[in-house]
Amino acid sequence: MDAEAMRGYTFALRHSMKGYGCETCENCVLATLFFEPSTRTRLSFESAMIRLGGKVISASDSNNLSLTKGESLSDTLTAVSYYADVIAVRASVPFKDWFPSDLKCFRVPIINAGDGSFNHPTQALLDAYTIWRHYGFSQKAPFVSQPLVHCIVGDLAKSRAIKSYLELMTRQNNHTFNLYDNTGQGNKVENLPAMDNVNYLTRNQLEHDISGVDVLYLNRIQSERWGGKESTGDEFMLTGNHIMKMKNFAMVLNPGPRREELPVHLTNQNCIKMWDQVENGVFLRMAILRKLLE
Ligand code: NCD
Repeated sequence: MDAEAMRGYTFALRHSMKGYGCETCENCVLATLFFEPSTRTRLSFESAMIRLGGKVISASDSNNLSLTKGESLSDTLTAVSYYADVIAVRASVPFKDWFPSDLKCFRVPIINAGDGSFNHPTQALLDAYTIWRHYGFSQKAPFVSQPLVHCIVGDLAKSRAIKSYLELMTRQNNHTFNLYDNTGQGNKVENLPAMDNVNYLTRNQLEHDISGVDVLYLNRIQSERWGGKESTGDEFMLTGNHIMKMKNFAMVLNPGPRREELPVHLTNQNCIKMWDQVENGVFLRMAILRKLLE
């Protein structure tokens, strides 16, 4: 699925969903299997399915599944495919390793709801949708045609949200991407091909360049993936001063959960779009489910 198609679907659903008015997935069942913690992704998938008139079955603790008896994730997914019409999964192993060989061998669509430190494609789509709504492109305009400057500050080695954001957004080759590794270790994004419009920043450059940014994407350091070796203690934290330096219409995104990088007292500043992302996540996931089940 591409961002362009999702944008159209999401637009339609946002405007038709008043009081659960678009029950297009009646009689369908979504299974959510989340083997890593989640608030937004799991609950927004479940809310999306219910708002589409469907039903949800869920397993959030792999200790209660036959995985603990030695069953493979692939066999678990196959079993669940007899109970559900679509499955959203979050696991710590890479998505490509969930399957024996060919994705098509599964009876129902499987949605990657986050695989370890690798990918988070539905988050990237909702981020892109949030940007599109903010910059006010008409429904027919090419996806984000304006050449935006993105500044991405976070855990470049371990953040799947950042990786998927870049994978999707760097397709806009007229945009610029300035990346800052907030662990202070100077890590780079694995498997991101070298591109003229992708630059790695030093801390000084970050402080200086913030005035030219259109989209500031902040994501927490993924401490659970570092075992205590995650930072040097000099992390970037957004301040009121940074916001004053930013362009009037710049936006700050954070996939959540936010930590020190986005202090609570700044939440109500106009540029902070964290809760818009949360809201848009439901519409976007409604669009994905409807597209997969039509
Ligand atoms: C992200 C994730 O789980 O990768 N959160 C989310 O899905 N909204 C980002 C994060 O945990 O930092």
